[in-house]
Amino acid sequence: MEKFIAIAVMAFAAGILSAAAGEFKSFKPGQIMPDNNGVHINAHGGGFLHKDGVYYWFGEHKTEGAGGNLANVGVHCYSSTDLYNWKDEGIALAVSDDESSEIVKGCILERPKVIYNAKTGKYVMWFHLEFRSADGKPNYTTARCALAVADKPAGPYAYVGSFRPQKGRMPTDGEVADCASIDKSFDDAQIDKVLANNNYKMLKGRGFAFVRDMRGKGQMARDMTLFVDDDAKAYLICSSEENATLQIHELTDDYQNFTGRFARVRCSDWNEAPAVFKKGGKYYLFASFCTGWAPNSARSYVSDSIYGPWKSLGNPVEGTPEQMRTTFGGQSTYVIPVAGKKDAFIFVADSWRPKNAIDGRYIFLPVEFEDGRLVLRWRDEWDLSFFDK
Ligand code: GAL
Repeated sequence: MEKFIAIAVMAFAAGILSAAAGEFKSFKPGQIMPDNNGVHINAHGGGFLHKDGVYYWFGEHKTEGAGGNLANVGVHCYSSTDLYNWKDEGIALAVSDDESSEIVKGCILERPKVIYNAKTGKYVMWFHLEFRSADGKPNYTTARCALAVADKPAGPYAYVGSFRPQKGRMPTDGEVADCASIDKSFDDAQIDKVLANNNYKMLKGRGFAFVRDMRGKGQMARDMTLFVDDDAKAYLICSSEENATLQIHELTDDYQNFTGRFARVRCSDWNEAPAVFKKGGKYYLFASFCTGWAPNSARSYVSDSIYGPWKSLGNPVEGTPEQMRTTFGGQSTYVIPVAGKKDAFIFVADSWRPKNAIDGRYIFLPVEFEDGRLVLRWRDEWDLSFFDK
């Protein structure tokens, strides 16, 4: 036992020293990514914040086995000054042991993202929440976005509550040409019938799920991201309407609520895993198709306005047919703007391991811009000097 402790202490010290010495000098997509303690980073479906020269990485803390996809621990945070070497900052938002809490242990807590609000000085975390199901099996019918707030970037975050946005509201902005019209003529009996048969997909193009949730619980919010624009306005972008449509919701000035201004975009494209960034006055979006943990072909879009119309730029992956079909085995989660480098963006994806969730890998790749398109190419190893070329 003593020997074990001695080894653990040495390993711990070595981890701190190596992180301080900047042990890692490159990205190795898809490989084990050790933190300062030599432990594979546990921050899946992650989001990144850059504040005062430090990058913070927030993500889902997974545990071993298939049950490890449930939120048994919470949101894990890491910090780095170079994006290669990450220090474990601990659990930023912990799940609760209180059975009455919305974030009780065993719920589903996915894709946490954090933004800093300069007006309030608060760090604002949003994530996708599914209430714990009675039988303990994953159940995605809650479809809410949830909020937690902290005074320091690494937390601790205090849970505020969860939302189904825009109940009773029609979209204020959006893609008139692209987005299917909203057929408000559904009557309640028709909605019940569609729900009973679970065949809402047959009604695609008529905004069925939109109308159902406008009248009912408010809009669904599953896979999500946050984006802060140059004018400090922030948006929550999420898969909605049974995942058929992305919705873009403007947040209030404190980033802790919805203003009511929102758009439905890329209706019937079935997008998940949205990741938004801005370059040269244009908005870019990576997303995936909906196939659960299994990888599929990435999508990319461009728009002059956050509310669209978002024009498809196709599959950004250039590589083998297999790489194009599976996005290198990954699913987008965030695009990191590299601080201090112009037009330097890193595409970050998860390579999920649903049978042993804790073993999920991360894929960091540079975003290339070619003829107005976004391009991603596989690299076994690369570093930030890529952007100096
Ligand atoms: C994916 C989604 C993940 C997770 C998973 C569950 O499509 O992007 O965040 O929700 O489904 O199967």
